Amino acid sequence: MRAPPPARGSAGPLLESSQRPAPTALELAGIFVHRAAVDAAAVSALRARTGAAYDALEASGHPGLRGVTRVALPGGESFVPTASSLTLGAVLTAAEQRALCSGLLAGPVGESIARALGPSLALCTSQAWIRRQYAPPSYPRAHAPHGWHQDGALGFDFLGDSGPPWPPHAMIEMVTCWVPLGRCGAHAPGLELVAHHNSALLPPADLAEARVLSQFGADARVRPELEGGDALLFPGGVLHRTHVTPQMRRDRTSIELRFFRADRVPARLLNERFVTL
Ligand SMILES: [Fe+2]
Repeated sequence: MRAPPPARGSAGPLLESSQRPAPTALELAGIFVHRAAVDAAAVSALRARTGAAYDALEASGHPGLRGVTRVALPGGESFVPTASSLTLGAVLTAAEQRALCSGLLAGPVGESIARALGPSLALCTSQAWIRRQYAPPSYPRAHAPHGWHQDGALGFDFLGDSGPPWPPHAMIEMVTCWVPLGRCGAHAPGLELVAHHNSALLPPADLAEARVLSQFGADARVRPELEGGDALLFPGGVLHRTHVTPQMRRDRTSIELRFFRADRVPARLLNERFVTL
Protein backbone atom coordinates (compact mmCIF):
# COMPACT_ATOMS: atom_id res chain seq x y z
CA MET A 1 0.00 0.00 0.00
CA ARG A 2 0.99 3.59 -0.39
CA ALA A 3 1.02 5.51 2.86
CA PRO A 4 -1.45 8.37 3.10
CA PRO A 5 -0.14 11.90 2.74
CA PRO A 6 1.20 13.64 5.82
CA ALA A 7 -1.14 15.34 8.23
CA ARG A 8 0.48 18.75 7.89
CA GLY A 9 -1.96 21.43 6.97
CA SER A 10 -4.91 19.13 7.37
CA ALA A 11 -6.25 21.08 10.36
CA GLY A 12 -5.83 24.82 10.34
CA PRO A 13 -5.34 26.64 13.64
CA LEU A 14 -8.65 28.49 13.28
CA LEU A 15 -10.72 25.33 13.10
CA GLU A 16 -12.67 24.37 16.17
CA SER A 17 -11.71 20.96 17.49
CA SER A 18 -15.12 19.60 16.47
CA GLN A 19 -14.37 20.60 12.84
CA ARG A 20 -10.98 18.94 12.64
CA PRO A 21 -10.81 15.62 10.83
CA ALA A 22 -10.33 12.63 13.09
CA PRO A 23 -6.71 11.51 13.20
CA THR A 24 -5.87 8.43 11.22
CA ALA A 25 -4.50 5.26 12.76
CA LEU A 26 -1.07 6.22 11.43
CA GLU A 27 -1.24 9.66 13.02
CA LEU A 28 -2.40 8.21 16.33
CA ALA A 29 0.63 5.93 16.26
CA GLY A 30 2.87 8.91 15.48
CA ILE A 31 3.75 7.68 11.98
CA PHE A 32 4.10 10.36 9.30
CA VAL A 33 5.32 10.41 5.71
CA HIS A 34 6.64 13.65 4.29
CA ARG A 35 7.17 13.50 0.54
CA ALA A 36 10.32 14.95 -1.05
CA ALA A 37 11.71 16.02 2.31
CA VAL A 38 15.22 15.88 0.82
CA ASP A 39 15.52 17.52 -2.59
CA ALA A 40 16.44 15.52 -5.67
CA ALA A 41 19.93 17.00 -6.05
CA ALA A 42 20.82 16.14 -2.47
CA VAL A 43 19.41 12.63 -2.85
CA SER A 44 21.48 12.13 -5.99
CA ALA A 45 24.63 13.30 -4.19
CA LEU A 46 23.90 11.02 -1.24
CA ARG A 47 23.33 8.07 -3.57
CA ALA A 48 26.72 8.67 -5.17
CA ARG A 49 28.54 9.06 -1.86
CA THR A 50 26.95 6.06 -0.18
CA GLY A 51 27.24 3.95 -3.33
CA ALA A 52 30.98 4.63 -3.48
CA ALA A 53 31.33 3.59 0.16
CA TYR A 54 29.57 0.27 -0.42
CA ASP A 55 31.52 -0.29 -3.63
CA ALA A 56 34.76 0.18 -1.68
CA LEU A 57 33.65 -2.28 0.98
CA GLU A 58 32.72 -4.86 -1.61
CA ALA A 59 35.94 -4.31 -3.58
CA SER A 60 37.96 -4.96 -0.46
CA GLY A 61 36.09 -8.19 0.18
CA HIS A 62 32.84 -7.88 2.15
CA PRO A 63 33.84 -8.16 5.84
CA GLY A 64 30.93 -10.51 6.42
CA LEU A 65 32.78 -13.05 4.32
CA ARG A 66 35.39 -13.22 7.05
CA GLY A 67 32.90 -13.64 9.88
CA VAL A 68 33.48 -10.11 11.17
CA THR A 69 30.51 -8.71 13.08
CA ARG A 70 31.66 -5.09 13.40
CA VAL A 71 34.38 -3.28 11.50
CA ALA A 72 35.96 -0.28 13.23
CA LEU A 73 36.54 2.60 10.81
CA PRO A 74 38.56 5.80 11.32
CA GLY A 75 37.03 8.47 13.53
CA GLY A 76 35.06 6.05 15.69
CA GLU A 77 32.80 5.08 12.78
CA SER A 78 31.84 1.51 11.99
CA PHE A 79 30.39 -0.96 9.51
CA VAL A 80 28.06 -3.74 10.63
CA PRO A 81 28.05 -6.57 8.07
CA THR A 82 24.96 -8.33 9.43
CA ALA A 83 22.90 -5.25 8.66
CA SER A 84 25.11 -3.93 5.82
CA SER A 85 25.03 -0.65 7.74
CA LEU A 86 27.56 2.16 8.00
CA THR A 87 27.47 4.88 10.60
CA LEU A 88 26.58 8.12 8.86
CA GLY A 89 29.88 9.72 9.84
CA ALA A 90 31.76 7.13 7.80
CA VAL A 91 30.50 8.90 4.68
CA LEU A 92 29.39 12.41 5.67
CA THR A 93 31.43 15.00 7.54
CA ALA A 94 30.02 16.52 10.71
CA ALA A 95 29.15 19.65 8.77
CA GLU A 96 27.36 17.62 6.10
CA GLN A 97 25.38 15.72 8.73
CA ARG A 98 24.36 18.98 10.34
CA ALA A 99 23.36 20.43 6.96
CA LEU A 100 21.24 17.36 6.20
CA CYS A 101 19.48 17.67 9.56
CA SER A 102 19.01 21.41 9.22
CA GLY A 103 17.40 20.98 5.83
CA LEU A 104 15.00 18.36 7.14
CA LEU A 105 14.15 20.20 10.34
CA ALA A 106 13.47 23.47 8.52
CA GLY A 107 10.40 21.98 6.84
CA PRO A 108 7.40 19.81 7.71
CA VAL A 109 9.67 17.06 9.04
CA GLY A 110 10.87 19.47 11.70
CA GLU A 111 7.30 20.44 12.56
CA SER A 112 6.33 16.81 13.10
CA ILE A 113 9.38 16.05 15.22
CA ALA A 114 8.94 19.22 17.28
CA ARG A 115 5.33 18.24 18.00
CA ALA A 116 6.62 14.95 19.38
CA LEU A 117 9.78 16.05 21.17
CA GLY A 118 9.65 19.82 21.55
CA PRO A 119 11.78 22.45 19.80
CA SER A 120 15.18 21.60 21.28
CA LEU A 121 16.54 18.56 19.48
CA ALA A 122 19.66 16.44 19.45
CA LEU A 123 20.83 13.94 16.86
CA CYS A 124 22.57 10.81 18.05
CA THR A 125 25.42 10.71 15.54
CA SER A 126 26.79 7.37 16.72
CA GLN A 127 23.36 5.85 16.05
CA ALA A 128 22.77 7.55 12.71
CA TRP A 129 23.06 4.98 9.96
CA ILE A 130 23.36 4.39 6.29
CA ARG A 131 21.64 1.10 5.69
CA ARG A 132 21.50 -1.10 2.64
CA GLN A 133 18.95 -3.83 2.25
CA TYR A 134 19.69 -6.07 -0.68
CA ALA A 135 17.25 -7.88 -2.89
CA PRO A 136 17.17 -11.50 -1.68
CA PRO A 137 19.20 -12.94 -4.58
CA SER A 138 22.00 -10.46 -3.81
CA TYR A 139 22.43 -11.02 -0.06
CA PRO A 140 26.09 -10.89 0.99
CA ARG A 141 27.09 -13.56 3.43
CA ALA A 142 26.03 -12.64 7.01
CA HIS A 143 23.52 -10.06 5.76
CA ALA A 144 19.99 -10.30 7.17
CA PRO A 145 16.89 -8.11 7.21
CA HIS A 146 15.85 -6.49 10.49
CA GLY A 147 13.18 -8.33 12.47
CA TRP A 148 10.43 -6.71 14.54
CA HIS A 149 11.79 -4.23 17.06
CA GLN A 150 11.20 -0.88 18.75
CA ASP A 151 13.89 1.77 18.31
CA GLY A 152 12.98 3.04 21.79
CA ALA A 153 14.62 -0.10 23.18
CA LEU A 154 18.01 1.22 22.08
CA GLY A 155 20.63 0.24 24.63
CA PHE A 156 18.12 -1.43 26.96
CA ASP A 157 19.36 -4.51 28.80
CA PHE A 158 16.41 -6.88 28.52
CA LEU A 159 18.20 -9.58 30.48
CA GLY A 160 19.69 -7.41 33.19
CA ASP A 161 16.57 -5.49 34.15
CA SER A 162 13.76 -7.06 36.14
CA GLY A 163 10.59 -7.30 34.11
CA PRO A 164 8.49 -7.33 32.05
CA PRO A 165 6.68 -5.12 32.52
CA TRP A 166 9.35 -2.46 32.55
CA PRO A 167 8.85 1.08 33.84
CA PRO A 168 7.73 3.67 31.30
CA HIS A 169 11.16 5.33 31.25
CA ALA A 170 12.63 2.13 29.81
CA MET A 171 11.16 3.33 26.54
CA ILE A 172 13.37 6.06 25.13
CA GLU A 173 11.59 9.20 23.98
CA MET A 174 12.80 9.61 20.41
CA VAL A 175 11.75 9.91 16.78
CA THR A 176 13.34 7.98 13.94
CA CYS A 177 13.55 9.75 10.58
CA TRP A 178 14.06 7.22 7.81
CA VAL A 179 14.93 8.49 4.34
CA PRO A 180 15.35 6.08 1.42
CA LEU A 181 17.67 7.20 -1.37
CA GLY A 182 15.60 5.48 -4.07
CA ARG A 183 12.16 4.02 -4.68
CA CYS A 184 11.36 1.26 -2.21
CA GLY A 185 8.58 -0.77 -0.70
CA ALA A 186 7.46 -2.61 -3.83
CA HIS A 187 10.45 -3.74 -5.90
CA ALA A 188 13.14 -2.91 -3.34
CA PRO A 189 13.05 -3.54 0.40
CA GLY A 190 11.26 -0.97 2.52
CA LEU A 191 9.90 -0.89 6.04
CA GLU A 192 6.85 -2.55 7.52
CA LEU A 193 5.31 -0.91 10.58
CA VAL A 194 2.50 -1.67 12.99
CA ALA A 195 0.28 1.39 13.25
CA HIS A 196 -0.21 1.16 16.98
CA HIS A 197 0.97 3.47 19.74
CA ASN A 198 3.07 1.57 22.27
CA SER A 199 3.93 3.47 25.43
CA ALA A 200 6.11 0.69 26.83
CA LEU A 201 8.72 -1.76 25.64
CA LEU A 202 7.48 -5.13 24.50
CA PRO A 203 9.19 -8.25 25.83
CA PRO A 204 11.48 -9.92 23.29
CA ALA A 205 9.12 -12.92 23.12
CA ASP A 206 6.40 -10.59 21.82
CA LEU A 207 8.58 -9.63 18.84
CA ALA A 208 8.13 -13.01 17.17
CA GLU A 209 6.08 -12.77 13.99
CA ALA A 210 3.26 -14.97 15.32
CA ARG A 211 2.95 -12.88 18.50
CA VAL A 212 2.95 -9.59 16.60
CA LEU A 213 0.25 -10.95 14.29
CA SER A 214 -1.94 -12.23 17.11
CA GLN A 215 -1.54 -9.09 19.22
CA PHE A 216 -2.04 -6.41 16.57
CA GLY A 217 -3.61 -8.18 13.58
CA ALA A 218 -2.68 -7.99 9.92
CA ASP A 219 -4.79 -4.88 9.28
CA ALA A 220 -2.58 -2.73 11.53
CA ARG A 221 0.42 -3.23 9.27
CA VAL A 222 1.58 -0.66 6.77
CA ARG A 223 4.26 -1.00 4.12
CA PRO A 224 4.79 2.49 2.69
CA GLU A 225 5.93 2.76 -0.88
CA LEU A 226 8.40 5.62 -0.88
CA GLU A 227 10.49 7.60 -3.34
CA GLY A 228 14.06 8.66 -2.78
CA GLY A 229 14.06 11.70 -0.48
CA ASP A 230 10.72 10.95 1.20
CA ALA A 231 10.93 10.92 5.00
CA LEU A 232 9.17 8.37 7.17
CA LEU A 233 8.87 9.38 10.83
CA PHE A 234 7.90 7.19 13.74
CA PRO A 235 8.35 7.28 17.53
CA GLY A 236 10.40 4.87 19.58
CA GLY A 237 7.51 2.63 20.51
CA VAL A 238 6.35 1.75 17.00
CA LEU A 239 7.08 -1.81 15.96
CA HIS A 240 8.80 -2.09 12.62
CA ARG A 241 11.00 -4.37 10.55
CA THR A 242 12.47 -4.65 7.09
CA HIS A 243 9.81 -5.26 4.46
CA VAL A 244 11.31 -7.63 1.92
CA THR A 245 9.77 -10.25 -0.34
CA PRO A 246 11.36 -13.03 -2.39
CA GLN A 247 10.17 -11.27 -5.56
CA MET A 248 12.17 -8.07 -4.95
CA ARG A 249 15.08 -7.58 -7.32
CA ARG A 250 16.41 -4.14 -6.43
CA ASP A 251 18.58 -3.10 -3.52
CA ARG A 252 17.72 -0.16 -1.30
CA THR A 253 19.96 2.28 0.54
CA SER A 254 18.54 4.53 3.23
CA ILE A 255 19.59 7.03 5.85
CA GLU A 256 18.32 6.67 9.39
CA LEU A 257 18.45 9.59 11.82
CA ARG A 258 17.43 9.32 15.44
CA PHE A 259 16.28 12.49 17.17
CA PHE A 260 16.01 13.07 20.91
CA ARG A 261 15.11 15.90 23.23
CA ALA A 262 18.33 17.84 23.73
CA ASP A 263 17.51 18.45 27.40
CA ARG A 264 16.59 14.84 28.11
CA VAL A 265 19.24 12.53 26.68
CA PRO A 266 18.63 9.09 28.20
CA ALA A 267 21.14 8.08 30.85
CA ARG A 268 21.80 4.74 29.21
CA LEU A 269 22.93 6.49 26.03
CA LEU A 270 25.46 8.79 27.65
CA ASN A 271 28.29 6.88 25.98
CA GLU A 272 26.81 7.62 22.56
CA ARG A 273 27.69 10.76 20.60
CA PHE A 274 25.11 13.53 20.25
CA VAL A 275 25.00 16.90 18.55
CA THR A 276 22.50 19.56 19.53
CA LEU A 277 20.72 21.01 16.52
FE1 LIG B 1 14.62 0.37 13.72
